Amino acid sequence: MANPRPLDLNNVQGDILEGLGKKNEAFFFFQIKAGQASPFREDLRSFIPLITTTTEAKKFHQCIREGKKEAAKQGKPFPMIENSGVNISFSQKGLVALGITDNIGDDVFKQGMLADASGLGDDLSDWDADFKKEIHAVIIVTANSTSVLERTLDHIKSIFRVGHKDTTIQEVTRLLGQTRPGAEDGHEHFGFNDGLSQPAVKDVDAGVTSEPGEKPVRQGVILLGREGDDGLLIPGQPLKSVTRPSWALDGSFLAFRYLKQLVPEFDSFLEANALPVPRIRAPGDPTGAELLGARLVGRWKSGAPIDLTPIRDNPAFATREDFRFDPANQERCPFAAHVRKTNPRSDLDKLGGTEIRRIIRRGIAFGPEVTTEEKKAKKSSSNEKLERGLLFTCYQSNLGNGFHFMQESWANNNQFPPKTAATPPVPAPGIDPIIGVGIGTPRQMVGTSPDISKSNQELDFTAKWVIPRGGEYFFSPSISALKNTFAAHSGHSEL
Ligand code: HEM
Repeated sequence: MANPRPLDLNNVQGDILEGLGKKNEAFFFFQIKAGQASPFREDLRSFIPLITTTTEAKKFHQCIREGKKEAAKQGKPFPMIENSGVNISFSQKGLVALGITDNIGDDVFKQGMLADASGLGDDLSDWDADFKKEIHAVIIVTANSTSVLERTLDHIKSIFRVGHKDTTIQEVTRLLGQTRPGAEDGHEHFGFNDGLSQPAVKDVDAGVTSEPGEKPVRQGVILLGREGDDGLLIPGQPLKSVTRPSWALDGSFLAFRYLKQLVPEFDSFLEANALPVPRIRAPGDPTGAELLGARLVGRWKSGAPIDLTPIRDNPAFATREDFRFDPANQERCPFAAHVRKTNPRSDLDKLGGTEIRRIIRRGIAFGPEVTTEEKKAKKSSSNEKLERGLLFTCYQSNLGNGFHFMQESWANNNQFPPKTAATPPVPAPGIDPIIGVGIGTPRQMVGTSPDISKSNQELDFTAKWVIPRGGEYFFSPSISALKNTFAAHSGHSEL
C-alpha cells in the first residue's frame, strides 16, 4: 500500500509509536451495554479529548530526557513530573456492538483471542473467567503514581457515568501493572531488562540509532493503510493482499496477553541445571545459573545481548542493538533463545527478512515481588494476591503476520529457525524456553552451552514458567476515526 497522505502524529494514539510514560498502568476492560450504543457514542465524544496522541507522548518523553540532563548537570535529583496517559482500543465484538460492520481485513482479530487460544498453545483451564466473557474495549491509563492513575480513572468513569443507572458501559475486569521497585525498574519478574529492542519506524523515529543492526521498518508494518501494510504472509504461499476500510488508516492492532510468571520455579530450574563454569572465577564472571538464564533469553539480566558478550555480562552493552546472529551457528546465542526466536535477524536474510514480522512491545510487570516464603519453598504461592507476571501488549498492522505468527510459528515451533544450511548439521533448535509451548513433552531447547564442543547440547524440560491467563485482540483507531466513525451517529461514516 502506498502512503495516502503524510502521517500526522497528532492523529495516532500515543501508545502505538511512542509509548505512554508510566510507572503505573491500568487496563480497564468493558462492554458497551446492550441497547446503549448511541449514548455510548455521545460519551465517547467527551472522552476523546483525554486521549494522549503520539505528539504528546513524544513531548513528554523529551521533557523527561531534558529534565534529567539538567538535574544531573546541577547535581540535583530529578523531581517526579505528574503525568498521565490515556488510550482506547476496541475488539471485533466492540466494533459489532457499535454497528461497525466493514471488514477490517484481519481474520485473527475477527475471531478474537479466546477462539485463537488453542492455536497459541494456551490451556484454557488456566484462563481467568473474565477473559472468557465478551469484552468490547479496553481503556489504557498510565501514570507516574497510583494516586494520579486513580484520579484519571475516576474522571474517565464519570464520563461514562459508571456507578449510575444510566451508565453506557459495564466493567468486565481491570488489571493493574507497575514497574518493579529500585534497581529492578524496567526489568520483568524473571529479572531481565525488558522493552529494549523495538523496531524504529521510518520517518517517525528519525535519527534513532538504537538499532544499527536492523533497518527501520516501513510505517505500514505497524499502522494500517500505510506503505508496508501489504497483506498476510504465510510461508510458502503468495502474499495475500488485504483491503482496509478508510477509517482503519493509522490505526493499529493491539494484542493483549495476561501472562503469569512462576519466578521461584524458574530460578530453581536455573540453579538445578546450572551450566559448568570454571572453578577459578574472575570478577564479573557469571554463576552457572546466570549463564543458563542468559542462554535462554539471549540477553543478560542487564540487557546486554549474549551475541555480543557470550561469556560474561557487560552492563555497558545493555542497550546495544548492533548484533545480527551468525545463521550458521549458535555458539554465541542459541537458535531458540527468546530474543532470537522472536527476532531472528540474519537467520531469515535468505528467506525474505523479518520486517513483516516486527511488532512494537509495550508491556508492564504486575504483581508483588517474590516473598521470602516463596523463595524458601522454591514455589509460587497459591494466594492469587501474590500472582505476578507481565501484562504484555504489542502493536502491528496485521496480527497474522505479527503476534499470532510469532507465538504459533516461531516460539512454539521446535524446527524454527530453519537450520538446514548449518555446518556441521545441527539438531532442531527447540522451542522458545520463555514463551514457547512444545507440541508433546518434554519441551526441549538446543544450544544451551556456550562451550563450542557442546554447542548442540540439548536441555529437556517439562516445566512452564509463563502461564497465559487470558487476553484479547483489539484495534486502536486513529483520533479522526474515533471522532468520525466510532463516535459518529452511524457506525459507517468515512474519514
Ligand atoms: C512473561 C513473558 C515474557 C518475558 C519474561 C519476556 C522477556 C523478554 C526479554 C527479557 C526480552 C529482551 C529485552 C528486550 O529486547 O526487550 C524480550 C524481547 C522480546 N520479546 Fe519477550 N518476553 C515475554 C513475552 C513475549 C511474548 C508473548 C512475545 C511475542 C509473542 C515476545 C516477543 C518479544 C520480542 C519481539 C522481543 C525483542 C526481540 C529482539 O528484537 O531482539 N515476548 N522479551
